[in-house]
Amino acid sequence: MSESLHTVTTLPATRQSDCPFDPPAELIDARRHGPISRYTHPGGIPGWLITGYDLVRSVLADSRFSSRKDLLNVVDFEIPPAPPGEFLLMDDPEHRRYRKPLMGKFTVRRMRLLTERIEQVTADRLDAMEKAGPPTDLVTAFAKPIPTIVICEILGVPYEDRGSFQQQIDTFMGGEVSDEELIAAYTATQEYLAQLVAAKRANPTDDVLSELTDSDLTDEELKGISLVLLAAGFDTTANMLALGTFALLQNPAQLAALRADPALTDGAVEELLRYLSVAKTFMRTALEDVELGGQTIKAGTTVVLSYHTANRDPERFADPHVLDLRRQEAGGHLAFSHGIHQCLGQQLARIEMRVAFRALVDRFPTLRLAVPAEEVALRPETADIFGVKSLPVTWDKAES
Ligand code: HEM
Repeated sequence: MSESLHTVTTLPATRQSDCPFDPPAELIDARRHGPISRYTHPGGIPGWLITGYDLVRSVLADSRFSSRKDLLNVVDFEIPPAPPGEFLLMDDPEHRRYRKPLMGKFTVRRMRLLTERIEQVTADRLDAMEKAGPPTDLVTAFAKPIPTIVICEILGVPYEDRGSFQQQIDTFMGGEVSDEELIAAYTATQEYLAQLVAAKRANPTDDVLSELTDSDLTDEELKGISLVLLAAGFDTTANMLALGTFALLQNPAQLAALRADPALTDGAVEELLRYLSVAKTFMRTALEDVELGGQTIKAGTTVVLSYHTANRDPERFADPHVLDLRRQEAGGHLAFSHGIHQCLGQQLARIEMRVAFRALVDRFPTLRLAVPAEEVALRPETADIFGVKSLPVTWDKAES
């Protein structure tokens, strides 16, 4: 084992206030020392931290590394297995059993229908912002409503339930409440999803969840799948939209280029995904001894994979800490992961972001922060998904 092997003990670290879009300095430093570092999990248990693009990607493609929740070796007590249906934290063949029936549900036809809905919702939100006038919080006015609609359409949440459902998932996913409130919102979401599954089974409608009732999946499993879709699709997209807007506002030349050239939109979304990597880290556990980056990862050891640092790896991306919307190689990013757990909703997420960013920059040519950048409240690094708590913005009324 190398004498000079770098050790990281300070995760989650804090971000630098002058550029909150960059990974914490400790992680950038770890990558500088090499793609793999020793790391101690919060429970004092030894593990590894992988920050290099090639190594992160190779772990994600390697079936000797597991996503199973109950195998995580990060605390000194036993972790229960993922509940039925929560396939993000399972391995094949169990994982495949849940993922496969879902894959055909994100069809071109359904996405086209959803695109129209997303365009409509986006236009409605922008109208509402314009009508109310500046300033506004872009998170509540814009970034959250769009993924909420998508989740509601997929799950077939009836219109009359959408307000309360949005409120619930906001509390449950937003991470800004007490433990008691969090548990209450989580329980309420679980109960609502259980009722929804029962309702779809009794009276199927035109949505993904209803279609899934026509399979061998149990109600408990369908509830778990719904929870994964909700957890994986809502917070990620909402934070990409809000943090992405913040990043654009902090990079005026890039924003101007995007505004001037609609053809830049798709590439801009890929670059923002790479640059921001809001789903910062995930973990995998070695099922057997694995040689990796010159080290032996012992069976049963959990590795932390930093997607953010991998996406800022100078060996993969030139000037990685620069936001460059014209970057050619941005599409190779790992923001949607890689391998069997690669994001199931990525095409949908792309549509949401393309539609939303385009419409926002077109509608408000003078959009800017309403507070100094240092006053924008960021999520703590402990949150699973990085982002802003709120984003106060303003614009010149005459131009809106
Ligand atoms: C910009 C927005 C999004 C980002 C950055 C994102 C990111 C990710 C990442 C990194 C993973 C893999 C985690 C791992 O490696 O273990 C993942 C998985 C997943 N995502 Fe997304 N996601 C986004 C939007 C969505 C949307 C809109 C949906 C669907 C409504 C969705 C559904 C899923 C599901 C179901 C999985 C689990 C896949 C599996 O385990 O096989 N995601 N996502």
